[in-house]
Amino acid sequence: MSSKSKTIFVTGVAGFLGSHLSEKLVNLGHKVIGIDNMLGGYEDNVPKNIEFHKGDCCDYEKIKSLMKGVDVVYHCAATAHEGLSVFSPYEITKNNYLASVSIFSAAVNEKVERIIFCSSMARYGGQMTPFTEDMKPSPVDPYAISKVAAEEVLKNLCELNNIEYVIAVPHNIIGPRQKYDDPFRNVVSIMINRMMQGKAPIIYGDGKQTRCFSYIDDCLSCLIPMLDQKDLNKQIINIGPDEEFVTINKIAEICANLTGVNLKPIHKKDRPQEVKHATCSADKARTLLNYKTTVSLQDGIKKTFDYIKKRGTRPFDYNINIEIDNELTPSTWKNKEI
Ligand SMILES: NC(=O)c1ccc[n+]([C@@H]2O[C@H](COP(=O)([O-])OP(=O)(O)OC[C@H]3O[C@@H](n4cnc5c(N)ncnc54)[C@H](O)[C@@H]3O)[C@@H](O)[C@H]2O)c1
Repeated sequence: MSSKSKTIFVTGVAGFLGSHLSEKLVNLGHKVIGIDNMLGGYEDNVPKNIEFHKGDCCDYEKIKSLMKGVDVVYHCAATAHEGLSVFSPYEITKNNYLASVSIFSAAVNEKVERIIFCSSMARYGGQMTPFTEDMKPSPVDPYAISKVAAEEVLKNLCELNNIEYVIAVPHNIIGPRQKYDDPFRNVVSIMINRMMQGKAPIIYGDGKQTRCFSYIDDCLSCLIPMLDQKDLNKQIINIGPDEEFVTINKIAEICANLTGVNLKPIHKKDRPQEVKHATCSADKARTLLNYKTTVSLQDGIKKTFDYIKKRGTRPFDYNINIEIDNELTPSTWKNKEI
């Protein structure tokens, strides 16, 4: 990475990834301008030494004015609620698609050097695992559809206007600062928060779904070079480990061991459209970004547990309205059972 200090616009800075990323960028000597509408995240996640604006990415005029003099954009803001997106498609696609187009439009207008977009492995849908970047996107729910649509607008605008872009595809990140009182996403944090309240973990379906989890620091070490590494323009890159696949049942077991709360999991109906096996190849990240898994799954969950333990358990916050309430809607959300 070059040592030249840049002005970097980061969205979602009160969120899990955006807060860690902006903190790291400031520590590297860059100026960070950040925005978050506080739909998710925590106020105290926002790093002290950034220029923070509370606001919505869909507020185009505000974004346009904040974008003045910006060199690079990292777009991390989203409502990354994949399972819920089938039931709250309007709210979720608005914050993923419209918010993204607003950010990209303002960034292109300002002629920034590069835009780095946080997409999601949801883009691959239910294809054969491990997912590789050359696979055609095959989204199966509104969250994934909105991410793929945002990617397409990004490519279109950047190619037309000769602006560099990189599409980062993180998967299931864990670590401190992740919202653990969100009942709709973040399985590890939900399980820990419940178990520490003496409640059994809730598992949708048989729990044999396979996933791969990455610790936040390993994700950051890939996002940082995306700032200005020369050969990354137009690349789509999966970020996360491909060594340690794990089932949701196993996650419940690890959380039980850590919390000392060993209650039989409560199995609920499968969630509609949930992909059974979702794991990515890290080959491209290894080649282009020297990706390495430095924190094991067990250690990553332990660090997440330590964070929640330090802050204390919290009641779950049902802050996103269910738009489609019918027989398919999980009772956990309908009846606030989490
Ligand atoms: N965490 C993961 O496991 C994971 C996996 C794959 C992809 N991603 C992607 O990485 C990015 C960051 O995820 P995260 O886990 O940090 O999520 P997060 O919910 O912790 O952070 C997202 C932040 O965006 C903010 N936000 C949402 N809509 C907004 C809007 N319209 N305007 C302004 N701010 C808004 C929220 O308030 C929140 O603080 C997202 O784009 C997500 O899709 C995350």
